[in-house]
Amino acid sequence: MKFRLSLTFVCCLLSALSEIKLVSSAKILAVYAFPGKSHYMMHTALIRELIESGHQVTMIAAFSLESQSLGSNYTELLIEPVYDFWHDVKLNFGVEHLFDLTQMTNYDFLKMLEIIGLKTTEHALKQPKVQKLIHAKETEGVFDLLLAEQFYQEAFLALSYKYNIPIVTTSTLGYENHMSQMMGLISPWSFVPHGFMPFTDRMSFVERLRNTYVSLYEDFDRLLNYFPKMDAIATKYFNTVLAEVPKVRHMETQISVMLLNSHAPLTTSRPTVDSMVPVGGMHIYPPKQLPRDMQSFLDGATDGAIFFSLGNNVQSKEMPPEMLRLFLKVFGSLKQRVLWKFEDESIGQLPANIMIRKWLPQADILAHPNVKVFITHGGLFGTQEGVHYAVPMLGIPFYCDQHLNMNKAVLGGYAISLHFQSITEQLLTHSLLQLIHNVTYKENIQRVSRIFRDRPLEPRKNAVYWIEYVIRHKGALHMRSAGLDLTWYQFYLLDVIAFVAATIVGVFLLISFALRLLRSHKQKQQKEKAN
Ligand SMILES: *[C@@H]1O[C@H](CO)[C@@H](O)[C@H](O)[C@H]1NC(C)=O
Ligand SMILES: *[C@@H]1O[C@H](CO)[C@@H](O)[C@H](O)[C@H]1NC(C)=O
Repeated sequence: MKFRLSLTFVCCLLSALSEIKLVSSAKILAVYAFPGKSHYMMHTALIRELIESGHQVTMIAAFSLESQSLGSNYTELLIEPVYDFWHDVKLNFGVEHLFDLTQMTNYDFLKMLEIIGLKTTEHALKQPKVQKLIHAKETEGVFDLLLAEQFYQEAFLALSYKYNIPIVTTSTLGYENHMSQMMGLISPWSFVPHGFMPFTDRMSFVERLRNTYVSLYEDFDRLLNYFPKMDAIATKYFNTVLAEVPKVRHMETQISVMLLNSHAPLTTSRPTVDSMVPVGGMHIYPPKQLPRDMQSFLDGATDGAIFFSLGNNVQSKEMPPEMLRLFLKVFGSLKQRVLWKFEDESIGQLPANIMIRKWLPQADILAHPNVKVFITHGGLFGTQEGVHYAVPMLGIPFYCDQHLNMNKAVLGGYAISLHFQSITEQLLTHSLLQLIHNVTYKENIQRVSRIFRDRPLEPRKNAVYWIEYVIRHKGALHMRSAGLDLTWYQFYLLDVIAFVAATIVGVFLLISFALRLLRSHKQKQQKEKAN
């Protein structure tokens, strides 16, 4: 008995080992060609984790990961120069500063994402290093998996056809409504808010109306306007190496697993499939020691400290001068110390309680117990860090999902959100004092933080697990929704509804016809009787 047991054990162990060995060192082709600094927080964490897990990564990179010292198992195809897509934004939409983005409509944002997506994709595809990869003679067994960003770079999915490998994508924005088309599921617009709308999952009639309109608009816009343009790019760069370049619309349905920068309770409950895996918070590591000056600045903040950062894109130094004066005046009147990410350190005339730096280790600062308030633009990464370290937030959202993130935070009772152009001295002072002294904000964010951290597997490990899973199971086709192979009228059951409706109408017509026949028969009989 004992012998049999241990034999079974050894067998299990051996098969487990051989299974693990199968992916102990996979060759992964990663494409992170979109030059968004914040996006790279997620990419960097994932690539690092893959390398540390023993895999080999070749990456088409918008930014270099040289500083990460990833060793010889990491090969970088750096896109040079870095594409300045804000230049396109300023050109196409007439915005002078990113502070003006609050005035843009959602339709403009959608258009903006599409424009910068098309431009940056083509810029990357043109690179000689990327061309070499596209035109390589040898393709069999060169790579095991294509890792790509789920963000307006769809032409790159053609690499999975070139190298005959499955696809895993990573979405820095988390869930988006248009993903339902590529994953074969339905996102009910009645309670799933569009990512750019400042709504939550509880919408009024008018909000549902607007949510439906925007979601529908985006779906049609992608299908009729954006995809043809991305298809043209894919064809231009891949038609010499692929017998037939698949349409973007089709390539997207071949994604094996999508890793989403999101997690409950920051995402509300919504329909999903097994192949959509939330891994939000991948970029958060255990806190590191702060630089000495910052450490002592925060340690000495006996009344607490405020941390102010508007992220990588919106620069505080470009703030209109009257707003800058307003912020300085309010901060100067507080007992708390203020640590401010400000890109121009020569600003001068700072109140004594303010420290500014061009760059700040955001997460490590938020981890400091004296930090009482985080003033943020509401980007997804920063919001996650704020939640992780349970720091109440003052949101000043500018564009895209920032409104949604802050709206959720306000509804969760752990943030106050202000419209940048409407900020006044009184409003700012009052909001900050509330966040500092009113304990409900702290209590709420501590509760949310506990939920956000409570997971079966920490996010980086989870992401690597699913990537290895896709490699182990050769694309994991069993997870693919069969809805992807239905036509649109089958998918929405329109054929069944039409059939049932036709049957009901048919039966109704039949009955009314029979009744009419009966009546005319009776009338005839009566006439005959009368005669
Ligand atoms: C590269 O990966 C292989 C296979 O996992 C491993 O044996 C080797 O130590 C790695 N090299 C470095 C420099 O990490
Ligand atoms: C604390 O904040 C909550 C939520 O905004 C609010 O309802 C309450 O009135 C505040 N309490 C005080 C004392 O201001």
